[in-house]
Amino acid sequence: MRINLSQATKLLQQDRVVAVPTETVYGLAAAMNQPAAIEMIFTLKGRPKANPLIIHVAELSQIFPFVVNLPPFFEALANAFWPGPMTCILPVKIGLIPPSVCAGLTTAGFRIPASTVARELIHAVGPLVMPSANLSGRPSSTSPTHVEEDFGEDFPVLEGVLSKQGVESTILIYDTEGAAWKIIRLGALPPDVFEAVLGYQPTVDIGTGHEEKPLCPGMLFRHYAPRAKLYLGGFPQDIAAKCILGFTERLYPKAERVLHLGSLSHPEAVAKRLYDILRELDRQGIDEAYVDMDFPAEGLWLTIAERLRRAGEY
Ligand code: TXA
Ligand code: MG
Repeated sequence: MRINLSQATKLLQQDRVVAVPTETVYGLAAAMNQPAAIEMIFTLKGRPKANPLIIHVAELSQIFPFVVNLPPFFEALANAFWPGPMTCILPVKIGLIPPSVCAGLTTAGFRIPASTVARELIHAVGPLVMPSANLSGRPSSTSPTHVEEDFGEDFPVLEGVLSKQGVESTILIYDTEGAAWKIIRLGALPPDVFEAVLGYQPTVDIGTGHEEKPLCPGMLFRHYAPRAKLYLGGFPQDIAAKCILGFTERLYPKAERVLHLGSLSHPEAVAKRLYDILRELDRQGIDEAYVDMDFPAEGLWLTIAERLRRAGEY
């Protein structure tokens, strides 16, 4: 059910959960001062309680009351990349943030979304916690239809422009031992863009997803996955697969069906439709697909590869 800004504002103030468009993916929003709605996010998504939520604000000044010991270069990063698809994990004051938001950690993730409608909503309601608007483990949502596929047609979805980036924000944390920022979730901003601000490229420390205590708790859980089993490999020219997820400039003559991720020269467009293609497998009732992973290991392709690998994990 599509709703407007004033309806979304009212629902959030009444302790309800609403889906909100952002430039990355749709978020499932609750007001930070509404504990029952925050609990409802975990229930609706089937999200493990050990997986913390990102706090979304409209202005940098809304972050300062919650944080202590801001890391070096935090404000430089904020000025360069916010509003936008970057999340910073910061040390927080105990007691001001509902414990379930931080999942027992002494840090919280913060982001200022570029989506104007999301920021207007935050101006009206205050900080919003928002995980991606998908059932836990499933591909994220980049359109209102995706949200409705997971939560039903009656679920309130705030109207707004569709996701521009198509993949989630890049998450950064400051590593005090190494005295440097590092990336703990690849995302819409590739590692090299941070060099201009930091003077170095943050290392990517996303782990294997099987550590006991990963830096990013969400990495523990199966993610972005369609019901279909995915087989990941190189340019599958000779593979007689039932379905291939591939690129427009290549021919897959032996495949029964080809779903195009996009062009090898436009990673931005591939990222933008990635989750829709993964969801399309389910819509078409496809039970297995081969994914052409023969693309460059650089820039936004790193994020695309990581999402596909995790979508193919069992
Ligand atoms: O683009 C995005 O970031 C979207 C939109 C809606 O803003 N949100 C999003 O939220 O992707 P979610 O919950 O699907 O993913 C957030 C990730 C999870 O893997 C979680 O474990 C991690 O951020 N995270 C949250 N708080 C954290 C913290 N304090 N320390 C480490 N990781 C944290
Ligand atoms: Mg998510």
